Amino acid sequence: MHKSFLGILGNDEVKISNMVEEIDGEVIRGDLEIGSTQHPIVNGVPIFYQESQEGNCEEQELTNQAFSFKWGEKMTEFDDRMFDVTINFVIKRLKPLGIHSQEDYKDFLRSKKMILDAGSGMGWMSSYMAQHTEGEVVSAEIGDGVFAGYEKCRALKNCHVIKADLMNLPFQDNTFDFIYSDGVLHHTPDCKAAVKALYDKLNWGGVFWF
Ligand SMILES: C[S@@+](CC[C@H](N)C(=O)[O-])C[C@H]1O[C@@H](n2cnc3c(N)ncnc32)[C@H](O)[C@@H]1O
Repeated sequence: MHKSFLGILGNDEVKISNMVEEIDGEVIRGDLEIGSTQHPIVNGVPIFYQESQEGNCEEQELTNQAFSFKWGEKMTEFDDRMFDVTINFVIKRLKPLGIHSQEDYKDFLRSKKMILDAGSGMGWMSSYMAQHTEGEVVSAEIGDGVFAGYEKCRALKNCHVIKADLMNLPFQDNTFDFIYSDGVLHHTPDCKAAVKALYDKLNWGGVFWF
């Protein structure tokens, strides 16, 4: 976790405690305290969602298990062809905003201050977006793919990888000016509620792509 993540939470009552491991300014193990709530930082990732807790939705936990297996054991890299297919698909859907090419998309990203990749899998699109914006990227993923995402993104000081449920993100409403959520919402137990939860985090005039 980059220490600059504290500033992104938009909360005055936030601090790092019980820090047991720090490498090159990165907090690898410790706790993130927000008010009276402590969130563990594990392998560099602040944990806002923990499996097997009372009150967790069973359907969501099964989804997590499936994707944790996919990102952790089955699939460890995307090849260039898959990346091109995805980028071109995103661009196609952004045409109404005057985006027709990767160069247009990079210009679009560059102008954004706060970007959220909701359900970021192993973080490959978070990494792309962080490389092409002057703003900050939050890469939020509920499953264990988040640890691969952290390794992919940790060198990018504007990319903040967190383990979190998009239904319960630790940010103020109206925080992000671009929310990207590819192939995620239909995996949540309540798709309509997921759209609403992310929409609440979108700033005025922002773009929500899903
Ligand atoms: C089909 S994958 C897409 C991953 C990534 N967006 C991509 O395009 O490579 C769906 C991802 O959404 C994540 N996910 C599902 N429900 C979620 C939730 N409630 N909060 C955050 N992530 C979630 C899954 O763990 C999985 O990694």
